[in-house]
Amino acid sequence: MSEDEFRAAMSRLAAGVVLVTAHEAALDPDGPRGEDVGMTATSFMSVSLDPPLVLVSLREGSRMDDLLAEQPRWAVSVLSDHQHTVAARFAMRNRVSDRLLFDSVPHTRGEATGAPLLDGALATLECHTEQRVTAGDHTLVIGRVLTATLPGPDTSPLTYFRGRYRQLSQ
Ligand SMILES: Cc1cc2nc3c(=O)[nH]c(=O)nc-3n(C[C@H](O)[C@H](O)[C@H](O)COP(=O)(O)O)c2cc1C
Repeated sequence: MSEDEFRAAMSRLAAGVVLVTAHEAALDPDGPRGEDVGMTATSFMSVSLDPPLVLVSLREGSRMDDLLAEQPRWAVSVLSDHQHTVAARFAMRNRVSDRLLFDSVPHTRGEATGAPLLDGALATLECHTEQRVTAGDHTLVIGRVLTATLPGPDTSPLTYFRGRYRQLSQ
């Protein structure tokens, strides 16, 4: 099987889109403030109800993978269909800083994690890493859910199918 065949097959799996977020604390308390980091992901899933566990798969060496290796508290915002611009921006490779991106995206800070939670998301979950499993070129990060809220109106989800963001037709 070639990489292209694998990609083509997986592109036919429709997925919801989330923004994974975490707060990177400042190394020097007297220096510049820490930075919020975000990453668009489709590899998010529910794992267990009791205890409540979720999983996200992060590319090894991505900024989020590096950050969550040090910082066990993170959050997920389940994106609604009007948030495709947010998804596109937080998927860009080699972007200089996420600070400017977060400045233009309304959000609050999760009380349990300090991570940004997007206004208008369909749902938000705050998590604490329980387990990290290396799987090929990705890390499976399994988190215990600390909080789960429904901040936005009950609108349609943002989905990703065959390489494009889609709106769910009812
Ligand atoms: C729709 C979509 C879904 C994605 N899902 C994942 C994912 O589940 N895991 C992952 O590691 N990267 C995923 N990515 C890629 C990351 O968003 C992207 O590599 C990252 O934001 C760029 O930062 P980096 O340079 O640190 O990798 C996805 C990208 C898109 C457009």
